[in-house]
Amino acid sequence: MRSQGSCTVVVGCQWGDEGKGKIVDVLAEDVHIVARYQGGANAGHTVHVGEHEFILHQIPSGVLHQGKRCLLGNGVVLDIRQFFEEYDALLDRGIELDGRIGVSRRAQLLLPYHRLLDKAVESAAATKIGTTGRGIGPAYEDKAGRRGLRVADLGNPEWLLKRVAAAQERVTHRLEQLGASATDELAAAMREALDLGERLLSISTDAGPEITDALIAGKSVLLEGAQGTALDLDHGTYPFVTSSNTTAASAATGTGIGPTLIDTVVGVVKAYTTRVGEGPLPSAFSPEMDEHVRALGGEFGATTGRPRRCGWFDSVLARHAARVNGLTGIAVTKLDVLDTLSTLEVVTAYRMSDGSITENFPADTWSLSSVKPIYESLPGWEAPTGHVHRLQDLPANARAYLDRIQELSGAPVRWVSVGTKRSQIIPVG
Ligand code: IMP
Repeated sequence: MRSQGSCTVVVGCQWGDEGKGKIVDVLAEDVHIVARYQGGANAGHTVHVGEHEFILHQIPSGVLHQGKRCLLGNGVVLDIRQFFEEYDALLDRGIELDGRIGVSRRAQLLLPYHRLLDKAVESAAATKIGTTGRGIGPAYEDKAGRRGLRVADLGNPEWLLKRVAAAQERVTHRLEQLGASATDELAAAMREALDLGERLLSISTDAGPEITDALIAGKSVLLEGAQGTALDLDHGTYPFVTSSNTTAASAATGTGIGPTLIDTVVGVVKAYTTRVGEGPLPSAFSPEMDEHVRALGGEFGATTGRPRRCGWFDSVLARHAARVNGLTGIAVTKLDVLDTLSTLEVVTAYRMSDGSITENFPADTWSLSSVKPIYESLPGWEAPTGHVHRLQDLPANARAYLDRIQELSGAPVRWVSVGTKRSQIIPVG
């Protein structure tokens, strides 16, 4: 199968919150279709258009460009109620959506009991993951356990109601085991969600063929990842991960296109590192620095408002991300947040507890909690960068910092973001 078009995946290379929303928004200008391939309402993609801020949880960030078709692929777990809340909020803010949004008929439904379960499991767990509480883990468990419901099932009420009744019985039992109980509101919430079924069916589509046909016809497509490589179910810091494959290969399975149709993979890295939720962060700052950079970068979760832990740029993780995702380029975001620092540190390798040194991201998450990062110091630029539009106009030390990130990561820097506005992005090369 030969594509005349172009297909780009945008993927997070750290623990999410790298600024993918902004990069997708900027790249979306030149494409016909933007599609999400995994995750659900746990994502919070922040995009600034003029003076307006939009936080998108399920609808792809490309939606803010008039006329672009935005799809949610089969790999997504779709929270129907929240989806339509987001949809209607966009309409209220004057975004034209007619014929623009399509949801894969193969996408899994995330129903109110998934959220209840998520919270109950998390509060009963000895090892907490720090989930967003959006029901993601239980919804993917149902998918893998072949108990889930898909968008297409909304067209078969008899089958749907039978499955929902079985699910409610199972969930009630599980909640009791966890020392919780189904709230009185659950039945009402379920009715409300299922009442939206027809509306959802009316915008459902077969996303795989739609994207494939568009590519064969010479159109361009952007596949938008959520969360980041270190939160990938297989390649992240398991078990402190989300319940889907966030990495680039999943863009094919999560939309229903063949992997050979993908030609570009853009990895998004923040110029430093952040993490929200539990699990190790090897390059974590000292408490004072943590607070300082959190304030400079506004590092609070877009979905939950939780403070993000902050640390130095970790090239061990960046190299892992470059390999797992097959990156063809990197977008470095939030460089401007580092403008006032006099010295910057970059992790080049980890010293393990047995004294050995590794440049590879360890599979053993517990060892990651005790590694001692080996840092390289680089001079800061101590000058504002937010107004810069060309690479050559960045301070020399900022360019040296980007060069080092590129060298250590093994993938070329293609974009640098120096602020929240659409105009604050510097194309490289
Ligand atoms: P879940 O995806 O809600 O199950 O959460 C699992 C882990 O992924 C937790 O550590 C969350 O904080 C983290 N996580 C999930 N979605 C995001 C995101 O969009 N940005 C950053 N972290 C996330």
